[in-house]
Amino acid sequence: MSAGPRGADPVPSDIEIRRVGREAAGILATLNADTFAGIAGHPWSSKDFEETLGDPAAIAVLAMDHSSDAPVGYALFRQVLDEAELLSVGVLEARRSQGIGREVIKAGARLVETSGARQIFLEVAEDNLTARHFYRMLGFAESGKRNDYYKYDHNSGSISAILMTVSLPLPAFPS
Ligand SMILES: CC(C)(COP(=O)(O)OP(=O)(O)OC[C@H]1O[C@@H](n2cnc3c(N)ncnc32)[C@H](O)[C@@H]1OP(=O)(O)O)[C@@H](O)C(=O)NCCC(=O)NCCS
Repeated sequence: MSAGPRGADPVPSDIEIRRVGREAAGILATLNADTFAGIAGHPWSSKDFEETLGDPAAIAVLAMDHSSDAPVGYALFRQVLDEAELLSVGVLEARRSQGIGREVIKAGARLVETSGARQIFLEVAEDNLTARHFYRMLGFAESGKRNDYYKYDHNSGSISAILMTVSLPLPAFPS
């Protein structure tokens, strides 16, 4: 692993990041199902994405692979006044650790900041150490905990949610 965030690196050359709306609900639902297999949380249906994306407060970005014209990652935010919530982010397993997750968060953070957000908050399952590290590398800090917040879909257990927040612009990518 490198020493820190690769802030100066470009978006991987075969990837295009674009803003999407309600028309992409089905694509986001498929990506969500593929990227969250086995991870505690609330699975989102196509209808959930459609409803959320129909809300003007929603901001979604999609990472597309040029060569295959296939979606490989996404991030979904909801913004209310000066606060935005990161509702969901995922990258297909075969395309992880290539900077795509960082790029969809950077793109979404710029969009919510342009719309007036001054901070982003999120909830992440306590046992999702990869995501917690990913968020820390982007500048998020842990700010609280909700006990027994998520249910697993493969057993009856539950897991706490860690709350994380960051001020905008993202400290790792100020420009
Ligand atoms: C979390 C997730 C979106 C990260 O996407 P990604 O494209 O692999 O992340 P990036 O390549 O942009 O990584 C950015 C930084 O995050 C950290 N990171 C990413 N994957 C990591 C891993 N497996 N272990 C430790 N750190 C990791 C690294 O610091 C990395 O920077 P570096 O490569 O310069 O060290 C991806 O792992 C994923 O889709 N996970 C499943 C869904 C999920 O857990 N979503 C979040 C739930 S709240």
